[in-house]
Amino acid sequence: KREVPKMKDKKIIFSGIQPSGNLTLGNYLGAIINWIPRQDEYNCIYSIVDLHALTVRQNPAELRQKTRSLLALYIACGLDPDKNVLFVQSHNGAHAELAWILNCYTYTGELSRMTQFKEKSQSHADNINAGLFTYPVLMAADILLYQTDLVPVGHDQKQHLEITRDIAQRFNNIYGEVFTVPEAYIPEVGARIMSLQQPENKMSKSDENPNNYISLLDSPNTIVKKFKRAVTDSERIIRYDEKDKPGISNLMSIYASVVGKSYKEIEEEFQGKGYGDFKQRVGEAVAETLKPIQEKHRELMADKGYLDNIMKDGAERAENLSYRTLRKVYKKIGLVPRG
Ligand code: AMP
Ligand code: TRP
Repeated sequence: KREVPKMKDKKIIFSGIQPSGNLTLGNYLGAIINWIPRQDEYNCIYSIVDLHALTVRQNPAELRQKTRSLLALYIACGLDPDKNVLFVQSHNGAHAELAWILNCYTYTGELSRMTQFKEKSQSHADNINAGLFTYPVLMAADILLYQTDLVPVGHDQKQHLEITRDIAQRFNNIYGEVFTVPEAYIPEVGARIMSLQQPENKMSKSDENPNNYISLLDSPNTIVKKFKRAVTDSERIIRYDEKDKPGISNLMSIYASVVGKSYKEIEEEFQGKGYGDFKQRVGEAVAETLKPIQEKHRELMADKGYLDNIMKDGAERAENLSYRTLRKVYKKIGLVPRG
């Protein structure tokens, strides 16, 4: 039986990813890669945020499949289920409960300034539902329930972290120290992996054109092909310049994250070489990195019982950990405790 981590003795990390598509290299380099080295130092809680995925219409059978697949990927990427709490958001009712309460402490004005809301309202203009609007409040609930200290995410989540902090501080100002005010951890390299064909947009797993992203489950051949097709520029020099060379700079940040080299070292490695060579090498390096993850993922997906067990166990631990915060909140705001 797995031990429930104690709340006090280590700092707490929380993060999550939506099971809304196959994970991309952006999710991996922006988020997951930074989760792995912290599993001993912190109490880490990682969720598969299925409730968040519902803000966009999902096919039910696919959503179920992707939820399992994402859990398998978490483990395949190196998250040890014995050291980390891995769970599915909807398995812990406390998230939806706290989200309702926090909705009453969040202003519509601040929500309407959220970039992700504005973007998704454009890309899903036929379904601008209330959930899409209050999405950051559910995210705040996810984080605040566990008294989280640190939230490792990609750059696109910076604004959501800021609103989470605002909500926490606002609540604490009224009721005393109820929530820990969390910090974002956004990596210096890899926090903004861009689309391969349109390097001015971020790489996204819900993109319609699969050539725009690398899925963690793409075959080595596909990966190399996608990199070979990546949009670059006409200068023919490999150097980092986000503004004038967004395509090459994006490939450099991917390569830097994957092989652990600095931009300067990469510029030296490819001095005098062409874009073709560079793209080939980036593709191969990514394929090599993903190979063991894909193998492990395949193994795990074949063992449904094992995954179900992890999910069940994770849900229990997550519930235990969040219960205390939820009870405190209810008490502070004046809800009569259930006898
Ligand atoms: P999502 O796919 O929106 O559920 O995002 C899950 C995590 O991956 C979040 O921490 C995001 O900030 C991160 N992420 C998503 N896309 C990218 C990207 N293109 N570059 C870097 N990080 C990303
Ligand atoms: N909103 C995040 C995204 O789209 C996913 C997410 C939901 C999350 N809840 C979270 C990330 C809590 C970190 C912490 O990427």
